[in-house]
Order: sequence, then C-alpha cells, then structure tokens
Amino acid sequence: MGEKREGNHERVELPQHVAIIMDGNGRWAENQGLPRLDGHKKGVEVVRTIVEESATIGIKFLTLYSFSTENWKRSINEVQGLMALFQESIARYGDELKAKGVRVRFLGRREGLPQDVLHNMSNLEEKTIANRGLSLNLAINYGGRDEIIRAIHRLLETEKRMFHPLTENIIHNYLDTAFCPDPDLLIRTGGEKRVSNFLLWQIAYTELWFTETLWPDFTVTEFHQAIRDFLQRRRKFGGIG
Ligand code: IPE
Ligand code: IPE
Ligand code: MG
Repeated sequence: MGEKREGNHERVELPQHVAIIMDGNGRWAENQGLPRLDGHKKGVEVVRTIVEESATIGIKFLTLYSFSTENWKRSINEVQGLMALFQESIARYGDELKAKGVRVRFLGRREGLPQDVLHNMSNLEEKTIANRGLSLNLAINYGGRDEIIRAIHRLLETEKRMFHPLTENIIHNYLDTAFCPDPDLLIRTGGEKRVSNFLLWQIAYTELWFTETLWPDFTVTEFHQAIRDFLQRRRKFGGIG
C-alpha cells in the first residue's frame, strides 16, 4: 500500500492512489443564482488546491473525474464551456505543474474531443513526462465501460496469436490506468452515492468515502478528514484481516 511516513511518534500509511469524483459544481453555482459554468470554474481552483496538497503530503497517484462519456448529454452551452475551460486550464497551469514535479496523464477516449483540447492535452503529457512527483491522472471523456471496451479491442489485436490464459493482470495492462495501482481511496463530493461509470474495474477493493459537500466547497481540511478516515479502516480483500 502507501508510502510510509514517519510522524513524531507514529508511522502512517498514506493511500498511494486517491481517486475523486468531483461532483456538485452545477448545484454550487445554481444555489447562488450563477451560471453552471461558474461552478466549474470554481471547481478548477479547488483542483489546483487538492493537487498541490496531494503532492505535498506524498500521495503518488491522484485520479480526477473531469468529464464522463455521459456528460455529452448536457446542453451544448455547458459542454462547450467545459471544453473551453479544459483548454484554458491546461494552458494556464501547465508550467506550474511541470515546476512542481507533477506528471500529468489523461485517461479516457481521445476521439470525440475537440482538436485544440487534444493538442493541449498531448503537450502537457509531453511537458511533464520526466517528472517524478505526484502522478496526476485527469479523466476526460472517460467511462469505465468504454475503457474496458477499448482495452478488449487492443487486447484482441495484440494478443490474438497468444494462447496463454486471460488473467486479471493482462486486463490491467490494457486499461488506461495500466501504469498505476488500483485506487486505495475513492472520494465522491456532492452527496450522490454512486460511481457513475468511474474506474469500474479498478475499484473492486477501493475504500469509498462520500461527502455532501459540493466540489467547489471542498477543502484541504475535508481532504485530510477523508484520508484520516481511510487510515482507520481495516481492509480485508476477502480475507479475514
Ligand atoms: C461535476 O459537477 C462536474 C462535471 C460533471 C463536469 P456537476 O456539473 O455534475 O454538478 P451537479 O451535480 O450538477 O451539481
Ligand atoms: C460524474 O458526475 C462525472 C464527473 C464528476 C465528471 P455526474 O454529475 O455526471 O454523475 P451523475 O449524472 O450524477 O451520476
Ligand atoms: Mg453531477
């Protein structure tokens, strides 16, 4: 599991991989009579804070659900606004992420995303490729089922001449998250208790933590609370602990 860190008297094991369903931006804005997009903009500021804190405390992998394969169902105005926001945020924070040693990767289906966004995504991946600090995975046009279908397609193409039995490890190697361990902790803000097509394969034994707090109101204090709660849990993986 996680990195061992020496406190004054105690040793704690941090979650190595934290995944977050950042939900509630739209409601946050609507509650204040603002356009939904203002909630998404505030959400980006919170992303910046949580990325920074994750790097500081020594989390290795942070995976953020930013746009699902189902989010295309929203109004054209919201979808275009979100795409523009991704574009702008990637451009704005790229240098800062690079300087902080963060390695960025994008998870999800590339087809369907606007060319300018794809261009900035590839640039940011390239720019941070040598970084060895926090691995930040941004899930954009991501769906767990879509990821599994894409993995099976690639697997069939590559392995069709191979006759060894299919294992969990082989599937893992074809997923978008092939380079990282399964999440230890999944946080969902915004009050809904569902996974909404996020990391379906990977969360088999992930610890889940839900909060009513809307993503734009999520704070470092509450992030610590989720991690502390995780540290109290007894994971058994089907054994007897
Ligand atoms: C999550 O916030 C961000 C995205 C899905 C892009 P929502 O936009 O789903 O916010 P609510 O759930 O409507 O409040
Ligand atoms: C999940 O939130 C997707 C992201 C946070 C990007 P949604 O708001 O799309 O999920 P549902 O529709 O409430 O299940
Ligand atoms: Mg939502």
